[in-house]
Amino acid sequence: MSYAHQDPATASAPRVIDVVAKRFGFEPAQVEVTEGERVRLVVTSADGVHGVEIKKFRVARTVPRGGKAVTIDFVASTPGQFPIVCSEYCGDGHEDMKGMLVVSAKKAR
Ligand code: CUA
Repeated sequence: MSYAHQDPATASAPRVIDVVAKRFGFEPAQVEVTEGERVRLVVTSADGVHGVEIKKFRVARTVPRGGKAVTIDFVASTPGQFPIVCSEYCGDGHEDMKGMLVVSAKKAR
């Protein structure tokens, strides 16, 4: 066990979001979470090899062909809108293969 940095905001079960990568986009194209939430993206490819990169949260993974799921865990520690890009060349539409991670600010009450 190595959750040394765990705090109450991250101690709960992660929000699990299934994402399908395919030529040339992500499904859903927009992923919405809340600041401080633990997020688990379970990404599968509907066709060939793709990649998932979210620079802000140091996410960079390859999604293999064949539908094998890739699990990506991170904490949405900062509110804002962060591009999700495909990091593996996958064809003519590769440059347009983008999604968006929307982290809404936690309401203080
Ligand atoms: Cu999908 Cu590049």
